[in-house]
Amino acid sequence: MQKQEQIAIDGPAASGKSTVARLLAEALNAYFVNTGDMYRALTWQVMKHGIDPRNDPGAVAPLLEHLDLTCRPDAANRLRVYLNGTEVPPAEIRAPGITAAVSFLARIPAVRQWLVTRQQALATLGLTVTEGRDIGTVVFPQARFKFFVTATPEERARRRLRQTGETIDGATLASVTAAIEERDRLDSTREVAPLRPADDALVVDTTGRPVEAVVNELAAIIREGLA
Ligand code: DC
Repeated sequence: MQKQEQIAIDGPAASGKSTVARLLAEALNAYFVNTGDMYRALTWQVMKHGIDPRNDPGAVAPLLEHLDLTCRPDAANRLRVYLNGTEVPPAEIRAPGITAAVSFLARIPAVRQWLVTRQQALATLGLTVTEGRDIGTVVFPQARFKFFVTATPEERARRRLRQTGETIDGATLASVTAAIEERDRLDSTREVAPLRPADDALVVDTTGRPVEAVVNELAAIIREGLA
């Protein structure tokens, strides 16, 4: 097993951080952990129970004690989320209905605590690339490598529009930009673990940059650090 070492990738929605994190994990032969999938999986589960975290956040925490969340790597070393032993369907948790509600669930302190414990346990796997909003600040504050990946809201909206199935029909650049700015506002103004770069994170602006160039830059920094 590779030495335990965490690479933390944080940043706002559609900043390119997921693609960067996935390709970086591949380049380094590391495990890839997408913590947004965990918040989405819980949102999907509670909404299946008829609970909408936007109107009834108080009903979410009591459900946690009936839930067993585990993560198992697939063939590509990406961690997949299982709830009570069943894999959560990746396409369903990216649907616009889940995207619109997930920030409200992610504001609930008991939910964050419950998930952070499970995210921290994944460090024992070995070399991990973990992406989210609070990885460098809360989940792995001791990580050797921390990056905060960002891009302008317009560039992020353009990227989101290119991702089929992630926006509603009729979405425009203006409407998607506004939705992204609203989610940034919710994520960065919440009381618990707001979205912000760790003091010791390297801020990486991906606006107008090919993803391969960003991945190569980060991989070089990490390889040098690990050598
Ligand atoms: O990265 P994403 O869009 O899949 O994240 C989904 C939501 O979960 C997003 O609104 C922010 C929240 N999130 C969080 O609060 N903390 C994390 N570590 C990861 C995601």
